Amino acid sequence: MSSSVYKAAEKTEAQPHIEYLPYDDSTQCLRQIKGYPRSFTRVPSRPLIERPLTLSERTGPIDLEQRVAVDSTDFSSITPGGPRAIGQLMTASGRVLDEDGSPIAGAMIEIWQANAAGKYIHQMDRHEAPLDPNFTGQGRFLTDSEGRYEFRTIKPGGYPVGESDWWWRPPHIHFSILGPSWMSHFVTQIFFPGEPLNETDLLVNGVLDPEARQRIFFEPQPTKVNKGTNLLRFERDFVLRGKRSTPQLP
Ligand SMILES: [Fe+2]
Repeated sequence: MSSSVYKAAEKTEAQPHIEYLPYDDSTQCLRQIKGYPRSFTRVPSRPLIERPLTLSERTGPIDLEQRVAVDSTDFSSITPGGPRAIGQLMTASGRVLDEDGSPIAGAMIEIWQANAAGKYIHQMDRHEAPLDPNFTGQGRFLTDSEGRYEFRTIKPGGYPVGESDWWWRPPHIHFSILGPSWMSHFVTQIFFPGEPLNETDLLVNGVLDPEARQRIFFEPQPTKVNKGTNLLRFERDFVLRGKRSTPQLP
């Protein structure tokens, strides 16, 4: 939903700053995508109504680390030290930033992804690929005092879109990030550069601005071989709001 429809409250002595900058709509994914029928049913068909923000939107849950179960950040096995899931071991890391580049400490990140065969643990997943008994494909954790996160997982596989007769989703990881308020709740997907399926994916190509599209891709990092655990390393920073906002994807 475009933040441009939200109007920050009028400036007052007690509230000297507008708190939420709008993002540039042209840097976000198209809401209705030709060839993707569900994109026409999951978004409003009419222009959004402008209204002032309320307190419940300007604020959010506090002390999340005490209210929700936070996992370890190694999702490559179900139990620490247990059998590893099948697939390419990798880490993803980066920072969560506000619109002005300030790090967001204590942001709650939830991830979900397919296994290496492109299969989710979900009753709606009709793909005939196998599940992996050592992989759940989901996790929850918090950013540190500098807004940083890092987790270990298995690189996901691509999968066919059931509603289509041609479309395969490229490998990607889903992120839901909750910052200090409900206005900074953020959902997107992050992709891997160089994957052939990126070229035809309707969501990747639904972000028309080339610079903005780069913000939904991991950046590969140098690796060290035989220096401990061999794994691929990827980075991606998230900007939750403002003109540099990471594009949101369902
Ligand atoms: Fe997915």
